[in-house]
Amino acid sequence: MTKDLTILGIETSCDETAAAVVRRGADSRGAILSNVIRAQFEQHRAFGGVVPEVAARAHVECLDHIVAEALTQAAVDLAGLDGIAVTAGPGLVGGLIVGVTTAKALAAVHGMPLVPVNHLEAHALTVGLTESARPPYLLLLVSGGHTQVLLVHAIGRYERLGTTIDDALGEAFDKTAKLLGLGFPGGPAVEAAARSGDADRFKLPRPLVGRAEPHFSFAGLKTALLHAAKAVEPLSEQAVADLCASFQKAVAETMKDRVGCAMGIADAKLGRYAPRRLVVAGGVAANQVLRAALADLADKRGYTVSIPPLALCTDNGAMIAWAGAERLAHGLVSAAPFTARARWPLDEHASPMLGTGRLGVKA
Ligand code: KG4
Ligand code: ZN
Repeated sequence: MTKDLTILGIETSCDETAAAVVRRGADSRGAILSNVIRAQFEQHRAFGGVVPEVAARAHVECLDHIVAEALTQAAVDLAGLDGIAVTAGPGLVGGLIVGVTTAKALAAVHGMPLVPVNHLEAHALTVGLTESARPPYLLLLVSGGHTQVLLVHAIGRYERLGTTIDDALGEAFDKTAKLLGLGFPGGPAVEAAARSGDADRFKLPRPLVGRAEPHFSFAGLKTALLHAAKAVEPLSEQAVADLCASFQKAVAETMKDRVGCAMGIADAKLGRYAPRRLVVAGGVAANQVLRAALADLADKRGYTVSIPPLALCTDNGAMIAWAGAERLAHGLVSAAPFTARARWPLDEHASPMLGTGRLGVKA
């Protein structure tokens, strides 16, 4: 039995500056005491995407205030913490360095444990905080930077079943929005436009459907959409809506097939008596059409679906604090020095993807 842990979490891996205080009780239940976040949409909007240098500067400008605010809202001071958790990768290295340096300084001054957290692990474990869900489960991570299916065997033990061989799903939404002139971030804009569209007007591909390995590919879908859009230029509002709806339908059908494939592998690996749970995390989990497709799939395959509340699906400090607390509670923290890592696969044994999708040799 571990004692209560009160942990400060810091997240600066992409375009959100976030800090939070989370308490993990001795009964292993979690509580969010504060969760402060500042998004950088305005700074990046003019570029139609996240600019690493701009993101790093924005983190420097506000991280100390965000940390102070998180502590104030939680009504704890630094001396009252049991540790600090910080995202050490994967992500944009300039931003990661801002968070890691700040966390190292705070932990050194106050002589407390410092936990380097893998951002993907934090997404993977968030359902432990929100629903007290425990491994094993199948995780679908769909964000602007990642699209992966992983088997979460235990805290600290992850097996990647599939990943994207080119673009991440959120990136495909963002690029689709950009080429249709819908603005940034693209996912919510595409979903909103699609509501008044005809999902059957444009015939778009379903990449990798039917393949035996649960990998993903979205670059071809985006190119097909570009050609479909060019063919009906100048684009009317209805054409944009129809393109968005057709794109979303192609995504939903593709994801159903790919995640269904991963479920088959998970069933075989975990055995017939293991609980069948699909956890969905990352910003694209907000998409209602995708949610409906996954709910339908899960229903047919005897799975329950867990999706953390949206504010905890997208990047935030609470998930980092929680992952740090879980690691501390399970004795999974090393005192070895660490640094920010742009690349940090959760499953270190999985083959890396090379270039635009060739499966690499095992590292
Ligand atoms: O997890 P997240 O907040 O940040 C990281 O990328 O780590 O995910 C952001 C991504 C963006 O690509 C955004 O366009 C996408 O999630 N997204 C959506 C929706 N809301 C956000 N994609 C589709 N439909 C949505 N409603
Ligand atoms: Zn993320």
